[in-house]
Amino acid sequence: MKSLRLALSACTVLMAEAATAADSAGLAIIPAPREMSVTGGECAAKGEPKFETVASIPPEGYELSVKKDGVTIRSSDAAGAFYAKMTLAQLKSPGKKTLPCVEIKDAPQYKWRGLLIDDCRHFFGKEKIKRVIDVMSQHKMNRLHWHLTDDQGWRLDIPGYPELARHASVRAASAKHGTRPHVNMKDYSHLLNGEKYGPFFYTEADIKEILAYAAERHVVIIPEIELPGHVYAALSAYPELACFPERLKGKGPLCAWGIEKDVLCIGNDKAVKFMEDVLDYVCKLFPGDVVHIGGDECPQDRWKTCPKCQARMKKEGIADVHGLQPWITRHFVKFLAARGRRPIGWDEYLLGDVPKSAIGMSWRAGGGGAGHRFLTPLECVKRGHDLVMTPRTHCYIDYGQGLKDDPFQYIGGKVTLEKCHSFNPCEGIPPELRGHILGGQGNNWSEYTWNEYDLDWKMWPRSCALAEAVWTGDKKPDFANFRARMETHRKRLLAQGVNCAPLE
Ligand code: ACM
Ligand code: ZN
Repeated sequence: MKSLRLALSACTVLMAEAATAADSAGLAIIPAPREMSVTGGECAAKGEPKFETVASIPPEGYELSVKKDGVTIRSSDAAGAFYAKMTLAQLKSPGKKTLPCVEIKDAPQYKWRGLLIDDCRHFFGKEKIKRVIDVMSQHKMNRLHWHLTDDQGWRLDIPGYPELARHASVRAASAKHGTRPHVNMKDYSHLLNGEKYGPFFYTEADIKEILAYAAERHVVIIPEIELPGHVYAALSAYPELACFPERLKGKGPLCAWGIEKDVLCIGNDKAVKFMEDVLDYVCKLFPGDVVHIGGDECPQDRWKTCPKCQARMKKEGIADVHGLQPWITRHFVKFLAARGRRPIGWDEYLLGDVPKSAIGMSWRAGGGGAGHRFLTPLECVKRGHDLVMTPRTHCYIDYGQGLKDDPFQYIGGKVTLEKCHSFNPCEGIPPELRGHILGGQGNNWSEYTWNEYDLDWKMWPRSCALAEAVWTGDKKPDFANFRARMETHRKRLLAQGVNCAPLE
């Protein structure tokens, strides 16, 4: 990270000039390249580019030279060559046979450029996931954080646990569009549609197909297995994994949203073994070096009175229930390390004594949010943790986007396109600690996102702005410049069938 940033700070062409040049040539490249000059003239847009390997080009970076006599792409790796092709595709104007001559030197500021898809609250399925991967890769985004397990549904078929696919992937009903059922309500049955939702899950063959598709587009998939909270769907299939199994008997995945108090029984060796088996399988299936283990919004109410949890505390010398989550986090940090993986988790999982190798995902940097205490980004990096920034204030694309007459429903709040574009993952972090900031990510929670058209609308164009924030980073042009490029780029997305929202 540091050496990449130094290399790029030696750029000779200022981004401000490059952006002006890009505008005058009518170019609409998103994310904006970090260095670009329009050299004049046109190149016949036919034939294959010439590819050259240049070891000194940073990882994922590329040089793209469009001259009158042809196109040359230089990179040190396959990802860089891929991103050069994505830029080249955006240089082409519809119906035009020529390309403008340009010299581009480009590389990402951040190595984690992510999007989260929540497949639990609503399920999108294999073809939509592939489509998301395709469109995100066009914007040089490279991490799909796949939220696969939660209170409202479990989406992975796990060998040895058939009830997960059979029972935990089906819920009895879902929220009626326009309603807001919440677990804290005494009775929310009148807000439900009464329609069985599922079974919806991915088989091993589905996952392998999606992984191969993602690899071709240089997207790493980060599977998320939530623990110790947000596990109600799994507990409903295997009630013996909960502190008080009788509370779960005859239940299915939750049909309402919110923070559920029935969580994994940390005192139960069987519950720990269940998660080991799941994560062992996940490590065998997913090749990425990071696995997300959730960690957010885990109430401790049940642990306070559960005999097994109390016995665990006594045996391990844990003074109070706050110590149980760090205990299980430490267990899985070790477990994953033995499989060559690092865990990542929501910021509250770093509370307590957790090894530095655990990566944080900071979602409450702006304060607020439900759940427990959490560490601020500065506290995380001071403790030596690497961090991916996903602040609710800039990166939650399930929040309203501020459009007039918007037909879709949002969870609340407001994150406008301009706000997304203003995202700076290093905000508030002193220069000497910025090496810990791996990048940023947009989060598409799906409580109020019913289908793929709804998902597209919320995701685009705001994810285009986030892509620019994490790729072009501190060299990004101002919002007015982005917006002008985005008007043209939106037409490209619509032509591909992406239901991109208007800019207004
Ligand atoms: C979160 O939004 N609960 C991570
Ligand atoms: Zn317990």
